Amino acid sequence: MPYKYGVGDPKFGWFAQELLLRSGWPRRSVPSIIISWERSLWVGLAFHEGEHVERSSPKLQLVGMARLVGDGIYTAVLFDVVVHPFHRRMGIGSRLVDEAVAYGRTLGVAEVECCAAPGASGFYEALGWEHKDAFAWKFGKDTQGGSS
Ligand SMILES: CC(C)(COP(=O)(O)OP(=O)(O)OC[C@H]1O[C@@H](n2cnc3c(N)ncnc32)[C@H](O)[C@@H]1OP(=O)(O)O)[C@@H](O)C(=O)NCCC(=O)NCCS
Repeated sequence: MPYKYGVGDPKFGWFAQELLLRSGWPRRSVPSIIISWERSLWVGLAFHEGEHVERSSPKLQLVGMARLVGDGIYTAVLFDVVVHPFHRRMGIGSRLVDEAVAYGRTLGVAEVECCAAPGASGFYEALGWEHKDAFAWKFGKDTQGGSS
């Protein structure tokens, strides 16, 4: 498959904004995406090489991302796991999640956690993740954070 993998680089912030929008996620500003990457332990990106890209680069399209946040010593949490709708079920999501878990292991954290989005539980179960109940405090219905 014509996929390449790399780590988060600010120059791909704009591509990430487009990927999130194409995947139906609320809009995030490019500066806020870049800040979130800078404050993460690890950011993984997947690119498709081909001709049918939407904008910007004639050959390269960002089609997947995932990031790991946390203190890097006790715990790490997986966030923003997303694969472009046209490129799902090609193993991209599992490769990014496996890389995140492997990175967490190199840090020595006891476990990597995540909060599965609605409909994504089957994906994590397929990868061998254990189900846990979780609580979250929401600041508001319309806020995504990252106002910059
Ligand atoms: C969830 C998501 C990241 C999966 O990415 P992907 O690249 O399509 O996943 P993979 O191809 O690596 O799937 C690996 C296995 O997980 C399982 N799986 C994948 N997507 C699934 C889904 N939506 N429901 C149930 N099981 C799923 C399958 O067993 C699959 O293997 P198979 O294709 O051989 O049957 C992708 O569907 C996505 O971006 N969804 C929208 C955003 C989202 O919900 N992200 C999760 C945030 S917590």
